Amino acid sequence: MKIEKILVNNCEILRPEPFGFIIFGASGNLTYNKLIPSLFGLFKKGIIKNNFFIIGVGRTTYDDSSFRVRVENSIKNRFKDLRDKIIEDFCANTYYIKGKYEDIYTYNEIKERINELSLCYKTKGNIIYNVATPPILFEPIVIKLVESGLLGKNVNKNFFQRIMIEKPFGYDLKSAKKLNNIILKKIDDEQVFRIDHYLGKSTVQNILVFRFANTIFYDLWNNKNIECIQIKFKETSGVEERIEYFDSTGLIRDVFQNHILQLISLVTMEHPKRFTANYIQKEKNNIFKNIKPFNGLKLKEQIILGQYDGYRQYKKGLEKSCTETFFATRLFINNKRWNNVPVYIIAGKKMDCDESSIKVIFKRKINFLLKDEQNFNKNAITFKIKPQQGITLDFLGKVPGAKLCTQSFKMDFNYKSLFGEDMIDDYESVILECLYGDHTIFWDKKGVEYSWRILEPLLNKLKKCSLEEKDKMIKFYRPGSYGPEELKYFIKDYRD
Ligand code: BG6
Repeated sequence: MKIEKILVNNCEILRPEPFGFIIFGASGNLTYNKLIPSLFGLFKKGIIKNNFFIIGVGRTTYDDSSFRVRVENSIKNRFKDLRDKIIEDFCANTYYIKGKYEDIYTYNEIKERINELSLCYKTKGNIIYNVATPPILFEPIVIKLVESGLLGKNVNKNFFQRIMIEKPFGYDLKSAKKLNNIILKKIDDEQVFRIDHYLGKSTVQNILVFRFANTIFYDLWNNKNIECIQIKFKETSGVEERIEYFDSTGLIRDVFQNHILQLISLVTMEHPKRFTANYIQKEKNNIFKNIKPFNGLKLKEQIILGQYDGYRQYKKGLEKSCTETFFATRLFINNKRWNNVPVYIIAGKKMDCDESSIKVIFKRKINFLLKDEQNFNKNAITFKIKPQQGITLDFLGKVPGAKLCTQSFKMDFNYKSLFGEDMIDDYESVILECLYGDHTIFWDKKGVEYSWRILEPLLNKLKKCSLEEKDKMIKFYRPGSYGPEELKYFIKDYRD
């Protein structure tokens, strides 16, 4: 078959093969906020053509036409002022099956539909199953897919069967291992794509390129020159829309085990031997292995857990909830490059601003005409991930005029001003890489297990705490604020 090449932002990419895309959890928010708009984004950019079909599977009662209305609305919500024709063309490729995830009849119906649509769209049997349900359903869905013959080892190399699994992958180390084992008994690891949509963001992918393709920073990236690393994951929104999921998950499982640990690994990993999935994942895993796990006996010194005011009043049943909507912590990586460099993390919902960023602060080694050192920013590189997308460099410079006065300045690189609003988004990237069968921007089996190992003592301790003990640990904060008061004392050397 002739493989077509297309140009996106002046970069040549391959057009993926025709495929069917099955979404489990098709009545949930993720489907309409992320998956559908991103599949449409790929269609609109011309990266995928008309030979694909999408089947939504969910418990809500829809038929093909009412599902298409929701699909259309979700697209119009994201892409304003679009021609109706392109949306209509896309929607015509979408279908819906109502069914219970534990019920084999659901899978029989999926099978019938796939057989019929594969012929119609000439997809040759290429299928991606996307599991976007609450995590508790991951295991039964995988088991039923295998039992029904919908998913099996890719023995016939003429077509692919792949599965994408949302995060959090597991609930703790034990459940993550169990899920890995169940999946890998039945299918090959190369068919499994453990999603972390942060790895699909261009700003996140740029971290490795920035670090390894630029001589000027390469040699500075170590504890001789770097004082600390600060990661912010602040959001102004709350969790009301998905309170059932969130209250049983908490922010540590929601963003720390996955997105934040990935950010840490990208900014601290060694140069991979090659820029391929295996080598990159190997270097990331070396970081995960070397992050000191929490010490269950000294939690108070290591982490602040917070909850925004009003959380417990939102709904009946939450009156005594100790679920964290905020945490601040400090980690260390035990290796030659990073010994003694603290990595600070602040993450929270309903905070003062939306900001996802990594700031690398350099030590001050030269003292050039600085009368009052405290008033000058240290050199810092900030990877701005969201909502701003780019990189800034803090440096000292001369104020114009006859006298030699210095001042802190910023150099600012901004993706949007160069590439506009229509960049490939995170889920577009995640779906595209899965279509290519490339694992570079996904978690691997070992990485997921290491990530839970870091958190295990913390999660175990919290599990064992009585409600009173937990209640004492949780610090409350005002929505729209910097977080709990205690933050000031906890991270003294943290600079905003
Ligand atoms: C999700 C978390 O994985 O990532 C959410 O479950 C969080 O709680 C979201 O808000 C942030 O993603 P993004 O792409 O909006 O920064």
